[in-house]
Amino acid sequence: MTIPEPPGIERVLFTGDQIRRRIAEVGSEISEHYRGKDLKLIAVLKGSVYFLTELTRAIGIPVKIDFLAISSFASQRSSPGVVRIAKDLDEPIEGEDVLLVEDIVDTGLTATYLLRTLAGRGPNSLAVCTLLDRTSRRLVEVPVRFRCFEIPDRFVIGYGLDYRQLYRNLPYIAVMKPGVMADQSGAPARPPTASE
Ligand code: PRP
Repeated sequence: MTIPEPPGIERVLFTGDQIRRRIAEVGSEISEHYRGKDLKLIAVLKGSVYFLTELTRAIGIPVKIDFLAISSFASQRSSPGVVRIAKDLDEPIEGEDVLLVEDIVDTGLTATYLLRTLAGRGPNSLAVCTLLDRTSRRLVEVPVRFRCFEIPDRFVIGYGLDYRQLYRNLPYIAVMKPGVMADQSGAPARPPTASE
């Protein structure tokens, strides 16, 4: 089924084919790196779900998966990067090799908080894998071990990334027109119209 292109798209950044090919490469890297280990992928809801499913199918060793959901208060200037776990893991991670799977690492505040929290639970190893990396917006350094794509400082949607919870199911990643988005937080200058 073809999903109609949403209003406000400037250009497609990565096609579905490009995304799948790159995930296949990263999946092979992960398989080699963790061969013989007890690998658990932890996805941060909701955006990373699309990436997680494709990634697990590109990994050639047995893996377990688990999910975390967080509430972010990063838009509050008084307390940037304050994050709360809204849904915790189902299982302990003690002694396991854990890969934190993100759709995007941006300021790095979320990943930093989660790495600190997960490290306290005694995993054998802990690393980050992200579909998109927007290093130009980084506020804290994040040790990203596996990355599919570096992206420019633009608002992107698709393949798990949303605009007001919409467009996650686009099979590609697209850049929104600057006039449509007021800032990277997702607050629009005005709603996109069908003519854009
Ligand atoms: C995105 C992404 C990361 C976070 C990265 O989640 O999945 O968790 O932002 O941003 P940071 O590096 O600036 O901390 P978002 O809050 O958009 O939630 P979603 O996955 O439900 O869309």
